[in-house]
Amino acid sequence: MSDLINKERVLEALRGVKGPSLSDDIVSLGLVSEIVIRDGKVYFAISVDPARARELEAMRQAAEKVVKDLPGVDAVTVTLTADREAGASPTDGNGAGKGAPPPGSPVARGAAKAARSRTGAIPGVANIIAVASGKGGVGKSTTAVNLALALKSRGLAVGILDADIHGPSMPRLLGIKGQPEQLASNELKPMEAFGLKVMSMGFLVDEETPMIWRGPMVMSALSQMLTDVAWGELDVLVVDMPPGTGDAQLTMAQQVPLAGAVIVSTPQDLALIDARKGLNMFRKVNVPVLGLVENMSTFICPHCGGRSDIFGHGGAKTDAERLGVPFLGEVPLTLAVRETSDAGNPVVVSAPESDAAETYRAIGAKVWAELERHKSAAPAAPRIVTES
Ligand SMILES: Nc1ncnc2c1ncn2[C@@H]1O[C@H](COP(=O)(O)OP(=O)(O)OP(=O)(O)O)[C@@H](O)[C@H]1O
Ligand SMILES: [Mg+2]
Repeated sequence: MSDLINKERVLEALRGVKGPSLSDDIVSLGLVSEIVIRDGKVYFAISVDPARARELEAMRQAAEKVVKDLPGVDAVTVTLTADREAGASPTDGNGAGKGAPPPGSPVARGAAKAARSRTGAIPGVANIIAVASGKGGVGKSTTAVNLALALKSRGLAVGILDADIHGPSMPRLLGIKGQPEQLASNELKPMEAFGLKVMSMGFLVDEETPMIWRGPMVMSALSQMLTDVAWGELDVLVVDMPPGTGDAQLTMAQQVPLAGAVIVSTPQDLALIDARKGLNMFRKVNVPVLGLVENMSTFICPHCGGRSDIFGHGGAKTDAERLGVPFLGEVPLTLAVRETSDAGNPVVVSAPESDAAETYRAIGAKVWAELERHKSAAPAAPRIVTES
């Protein structure tokens, strides 16, 4: 079926899409990157002036639609990108840009950086760990932030990277306003809250602006947040992953030099099925799974202190045992966790005596122990190989 489709047909269809000035089509304007076709999936990028990215979303959608309508095309990923191949200006009419990287890898110069980071070359950062889940809304960001603070309370130097560039949550969760400063080295200085170094796309874009960069651009943004930020010396960098196990997540799992992953799940069976997907994704790319966290476990009533298992209970623990990964702990569903998250004052620092904070600290201790265990078990892991 995918034989029906080739680059020429895609380019032909794209000639019907007008460029930003509406005078010419995007192919003649030389705005279309290398087109990559794999198993009926088509990937390409359109170069745009980043200042106009928002208004050009319609153009991106038009390009997506004309290609999607071609016979033999199952899916299309079109990215608007500010990265431009040398020599291809928007008006030089050079035709399709040359040498853009294949799908799943960042567009243009992000590629080299991502390749570097795969070899562990984020100077000073000893361990990068991902907090992930198979589906959204299970409390991944809340877990990431409290886990980071729990690790910090052990005296470790900790950073947190919000990799959810479509829906960044760290500015809100940590109550951070303002923008990172650009240093003389051209690197961005991470923001700071509660002693954590923090980087999020949320600091760089207006919260009201919908995120329209997709696919390869996501990776490019992420690799820049990893490598163009002055993280300094960190024992652990916690990465709050975007929800799901799609191409973008897989690419990140592959290209970020992860020391391990923590999977968050709610007790519902369905979420556990999703958690398994998350687990398998990391296994596929040989990233050790440090363990499973059951979030929104027992509900603690704020009035009477009574406990009830609204979403069922213990599913993650049984699952972790069955899947042979460590069970890291159960975080109760409490009003305090939600309110402190929304107020930018995470429970580990705002109510350190609470059960929830205690649970997060216990999770932090297990995560650190697992990291140490994996480190001694695999001394030649890619993350400690220096760049050659
Ligand atoms: N243990 C908990 N008790 C009470 N509320 C919680 C708990 N964990 C998370 N929440 C709340 O659930 C909501 C979703 O949490 P969060 O944003 O951390 O999830 P997420 O998995 O990162 O979501 P997304 O997929 O959108 O990134 C938030 O309002 C958060 O405050
Ligand atoms: Mg989140």
